[in-house]
Amino acid sequence: MRVVLLGAPGAGKGTQAKKLIEVCGIPQISTGDLLRAAVAAKSDLGVQAKAYMDRGELVPDSIVLGMVQERLRQDDCAKGCILDGFPRNTSQAKALDEMLQTMNMPLDAAVDIDVPLEDLMKRLTGRRTCGSCGQMYNIYFSKPQKDGVCDKCGGALFQRDDDKEDTIRKRLDVYTSQTAPLIGYYRDKSLYKGINGTGSIDEIFNNICSALKTN
Ligand code: AP5
Ligand code: MG
Repeated sequence: MRVVLLGAPGAGKGTQAKKLIEVCGIPQISTGDLLRAAVAAKSDLGVQAKAYMDRGELVPDSIVLGMVQERLRQDDCAKGCILDGFPRNTSQAKALDEMLQTMNMPLDAAVDIDVPLEDLMKRLTGRRTCGSCGQMYNIYFSKPQKDGVCDKCGGALFQRDDDKEDTIRKRLDVYTSQTAPLIGYYRDKSLYKGINGTGSIDEIFNNICSALKTN
């Protein structure tokens, strides 16, 4: 199964992707995570990407597309994958279609986690992530038992550099102008599944699973 997760910054793409990969046994491909790993490694690509990410802008397709193609070619993607945060604009969506067609791996669904924009600021400013295992928390909605420490593995929690109010506002603008048009793109291909993204994480997960079963 190959699924694209659409949704604004903070909609819960990463949270739901992590639950889906456990149930489906296929990998998550998060372009945000791949780019943050490149930034942390200070690779050439990471140094170029960082300036865009710090401004809340999309990293150029010339950087992102090669990264995704390389990842899709790895053996663990043969059975499927959950694409989290990719594609982000129409040119990426078209490039993905071409890549998947060449590899004979069709897309099954584009799941849009829909959350009102006014709810997203608190989700993003409150987000904390474990530096060791990637588990996500939120200081307003799903606090760890001990401040700054991961319940699952004891790792230290960090706040993302781009989760500052000004940068979040820019990311939300970029979503509205460049990513939201993908809703129409996937509707036209009959792949679109809109999911209400407010409610508990488990409720949303159950709704995503039901929508995918009706494929
Ligand atoms: P990326 O890492 O993809 O960030 P994003 O799209 O802005 O989305 P987030 O990761 O912030 O949110 P999410 O939807 O995953 O929510 P989460 O599950 O964490 O991209 C970052 C940057 O990289 C971009 O700005 C761009 O520069 C670059 N980039 C990435 N991909 C690119 C591409 N394809 N092309 C070009 N550039 C690219 O949840 C958020 C918080 O809410 C957490 O605290 C969580 O615990 C909480 N939460 C989740 N669900 C719920 C719920 N139901 N109720 C209450 N709280 C909840
Ligand atoms: Mg994410």
